[in-house]
Amino acid sequence: MMDIEFVRSRFIKHFDGNTGNVYASPGRINLIGEHTDYNGGYVFPGAVDKGVMAEIRPNGTEDTVMAYSIDLKDRVDFKLSDPNGPRASWARYIYGIALEMRKRGANVKGFNIAFAGDVPLGAGMSSSAAMESCFAFGLNDLFADGKVSQWDMVLAGQATEHNYCGVNCGIMDQFASVFGKSGCLMRLDCRSREFEYFPFKPDGYRLVLLDSVVKHQLAGSPYNDRRRSCENVVKHIAAKHPEATFETLRDCTWEQLEEVKADISEEDYRRAKFVLGEKDRVLAVCDALNVGDYERVGELMYQTHEGLSKDYEVSCEELDFLNDIAKENGVTGSRIMGGGFGGCTINLVRNDLYLQFISDAKKRFNEKYGHEPKVYDVVIGDGSRKLC
Ligand code: GLA
Repeated sequence: MMDIEFVRSRFIKHFDGNTGNVYASPGRINLIGEHTDYNGGYVFPGAVDKGVMAEIRPNGTEDTVMAYSIDLKDRVDFKLSDPNGPRASWARYIYGIALEMRKRGANVKGFNIAFAGDVPLGAGMSSSAAMESCFAFGLNDLFADGKVSQWDMVLAGQATEHNYCGVNCGIMDQFASVFGKSGCLMRLDCRSREFEYFPFKPDGYRLVLLDSVVKHQLAGSPYNDRRRSCENVVKHIAAKHPEATFETLRDCTWEQLEEVKADISEEDYRRAKFVLGEKDRVLAVCDALNVGDYERVGELMYQTHEGLSKDYEVSCEELDFLNDIAKENGVTGSRIMGGGFGGCTINLVRNDLYLQFISDAKKRFNEKYGHEPKVYDVVIGDGSRKLC
């Protein structure tokens, strides 16, 4: 995590010399359950020890926000009453969160904010959710005495993506960033929003991310397309079964998918097939974790990769290559993590294979693509919090 004094020194320098409160929110990993959140299925994320830190202070104005991105060295001032909001994409997260928190009962007025982050951008570790949750947490503390619920902060983050940033995401990332707990993964049922903490200390194994450093861009992208495919399949199934309610693919069975196969495109069929399989795999992973069967967990991770690559088509050559290297090194489980189109693989690897695997992956990736993948050892950290 970053240093509070570093953020504070920039806040003092760029505004009026006063200090505010400092808040932090993490990025996330996800063990399994990809593209299931907006389909009402299960996810299995955990917060990481990297995130976003922001210092915020009400500035006494009705609705003027003065914002400084420490990493980009960029200052943007805007008014919450401006219907268009700021153009800089990073500032739109602040604008969006402030308006969405207002909708959820926080009496947000003008404020100064400076923030920095250490979640690698575009790595599929949800740097944007870390921003949203951090800003939401701070504004809740400063303008609502913490009365906006944790779930409403999650939903404010998701609505910011939908309404101001062009990504129709689910709730996994914001959920993990708000609710994360050190040492625990969380199984969330995205339909009922019930969740459970799972202490995750796999004896003899560790989790490591390999970042291909291929950047993904979800905005206005194939991500929204995938979501539309899923909704289209649900519409077809619902039309065949007027007696029942179908909200998402979570409500649909394998048989029902087969019934509409002839009416939908081959592409939509494959996408829905992946989602139904992934829903089952998360539950199978929970059973395996309950009996400490990490080899089974790993097998299911490889199946997810296969599905994300061939059926959901959100992988890329570099990530498939990293997955092959993992397999060839006898790594227990490996798969693309997050939305896809670049970013990381998440690998469950036995301690005794770790060094060999990392060095082989670096060498072979470098030979093929001219640069090494970045390596992040996963440390499961806490969710959103006030630091001072
Ligand atoms: C992105 C989205 C999430 C989720 C994942 C895929 O991270 O923000 O809501 O859909 O992709 O599992």
